[in-house]
Amino acid sequence: MALDSLKNGLKERVRACEDWWFETTRHVQTSGLMARPPASKVVGEIRDSHIYGPVRVANAHAALRDLPLGGTQNGGARGGDYSRYTFIDMGSGKGRVLFVAAEYPFRKVIGVEFSNDLHDDAVANLKRYKYPGRRCADIEAVHADARDFEFPDGNLVIYLFNPFGPEVMERMLANLERSLEKHPRHVIVVMLWPDHSDVVEGRAIMRVYRKTRRHHIYEAGERP
Ligand SMILES: C[S@@+](CC[C@H](N)C(=O)[O-])C[C@H]1O[C@@H](n2cnc3c(N)ncnc32)[C@H](O)[C@@H]1O
Repeated sequence: MALDSLKNGLKERVRACEDWWFETTRHVQTSGLMARPPASKVVGEIRDSHIYGPVRVANAHAALRDLPLGGTQNGGARGGDYSRYTFIDMGSGKGRVLFVAAEYPFRKVIGVEFSNDLHDDAVANLKRYKYPGRRCADIEAVHADARDFEFPDGNLVIYLFNPFGPEVMERMLANLERSLEKHPRHVIVVMLWPDHSDVVEGRAIMRVYRKTRRHHIYEAGERP
């Protein structure tokens, strides 16, 4: 018992140091859990949404290095080409993952957040963000409910760190499928510590690429 609490205390300290380093070197503030916003302070519907808690930076990097990207230029960790993909963080909060993703040469990085306050925080972070290791010039914070988000053209990496429950997930996937019917392309769905990966697996178009303890990765369509 005493050993467990010592281990947990140590883990929390390490995590606080990692967060401090990430934020100081990027000039942003993305840590801290946030309470569920009142329904009047979100765009769209509050139902089925989860609260803000940022991912651990190392876990986001591990997932982004593991993507089944098509193409061979610009060498991703596995020889894929990030520049052929737009990265979308669904439920992006204060924007931490936008700044992690910007360290890869994605064509564009987009964050979709429905809370007014968190979106404002992300915009403020974007203004302050400065980092020599940045490799994606185009980062956009979109204030929207994931239910209503229109997916952009081109190949996509859709990142989800438990932003919402199965109802919103189904709506988002139905929108994605409609978009893919109109413009067939390669889509990767990457889920960290997923609670509802069964919803993604239940869609006929999705194939499992990899499942680890920390992340599940799915893909649809042909790699470019
Ligand atoms: C667990 S946090 C993940 C934050 C960030 N993506 C990360 O990995 O660090 C989930 C976020 O999803 C947002 N969210 C929940 N429901 C949403 C919805 N329907 N549309 C857009 N954002 C939503 C929450 O406000 C919160 O910021």
